Amino acid sequence: MIVLGIESSCDETGVALVQTGGQPVPALLAHALHSQIEMHQAYGGVVPELASRDHIRRVLPLAQQVLDEAGRTVADIDVVAYTRGPGLAGALLVGAGVACAMGAALGKPVLGVHHLEGHLLSPFLSADPPEFPFVALLVSGGHTQLMQVDGVGRYTLLGETIDDAAGEAFDKSAKLLGLGYPGGPALSKLAQQGDPAAFKLPRPLLHSGDLDFSFAGLKTAVLTQTHKLADQMQARKADLAASTEAAIVDVLVKKSMMALDASGLQRIVVAGGVGANRRLRAQLNAACAKRGVRVHYPELALCTDNGAMIALAAAMRLQSGVQEAVADYAFDVRPR
Ligand code: KG4
Ligand code: ZN
Repeated sequence: MIVLGIESSCDETGVALVQTGGQPVPALLAHALHSQIEMHQAYGGVVPELASRDHIRRVLPLAQQVLDEAGRTVADIDVVAYTRGPGLAGALLVGAGVACAMGAALGKPVLGVHHLEGHLLSPFLSADPPEFPFVALLVSGGHTQLMQVDGVGRYTLLGETIDDAAGEAFDKSAKLLGLGYPGGPALSKLAQQGDPAAFKLPRPLLHSGDLDFSFAGLKTAVLTQTHKLADQMQARKADLAASTEAAIVDVLVKKSMMALDASGLQRIVVAGGVGANRRLRAQLNAACAKRGVRVHYPELALCTDNGAMIALAAAMRLQSGVQEAVADYAFDVRPR
C-alpha cells in the first residue's frame, strides 16, 4: 500500500510517499520539503495568513516532485494522509483540503494524522530504528511531553509542560537576545562560543518530583539578565545563550532520566525540533550511556516538521491495524 502524506501545520510544507509492508517499518520512497522560514524571518515569527497562502502554492508541486522521484503516478496512491492537528488552523486546512480533494478525485481513502504522533514515530525512519516499548521525549515549538510508548497508538502521557514548550523557551530567549527567527538553532549556534555556567538561571520544576516541565520563568530570568547587562550585553551574549541552553537541557535530561526510572524502560526516543539540539543530544547520550539505556533520534533532517513523518505515522497505523483509512472527505482540522 502506498501512502502519500502531507504536512502543513505550521511553516513547512512537506510531502512524502511511504510504502507499507516494509519490515520492521514502512519504506520511505521519497520526500520533499519547502521551508517558509525565510518568508517569515522579516516578521520575527510565523504569520499565519502568509503560511496558509504559501502552503497553497507549494503543496501540489511538492506532491508531483515526490511522485516523480519515486517513479510513480497519482494512480499508484492507495491512501492520502494529512496532518489533522495541532497547528495553525488555516495552514492545516490547506493540507486537509488538498488531501481530501485528492482522495475524492482518486476514489481513495484518506487519513488524518496527529502531528505529534508523526514526530513520535519519526525515529523509525532512521538507520537505527527503535523497538517498542520506549519512553519518548517530545520537544517541539508547541509541545514538551514525556510519553510511554508501548506500540503504535498505545501512548501514555507521563508528564508535560504546564506553560511554555521547550522550543518556545529557546525561541523567546533568542528573541530577547536579539537573535532571528527561528530562535532555537540561532541561540544554540551562539551558545557554542559561550560559557554555560556564566549565569545562574533557574531550572524550573527540576526538583518537583513529577515529570512536568515549566519554562515560562526561564524567559523572565533571561529578560532580567538582559536588563542587568545593559551595555555589556553584546560582550556577554554568547555566555547568556549558553547558560539559557544549559538550563533548558538540564531539565529535559533530568526529567527524561526520571521517566526511565518511573517506567522501568531501557530505551528512549527523542523527537521534535529541539531534538536537533547538540547539547541536548550530547547530555542525553552521556546520561543514557551511564545507565546502559539506548537512545534513538530521528535523522537530523527529520527532526523538524516534514511530510515523511506524517506518511510514516499513517502507514504504521494502517500496517499495525490500529486504524483504517476511510473514504470520508468531510475533513475537519484540530488546531489544538
Ligand atoms: O517540531 P518543530 O519543527 O515544529 C513544531 O512542531 O513546533 O520544532 C520547532 C522548534 C522551534 O521552537 C525551534 O526553535 C526548535 O524546534 N529548534 C531548536 C533547534 N532546532 C530547532 N531548538 C534548539 N536547538 C536546535 N538546534
Ligand atoms: Zn512539529
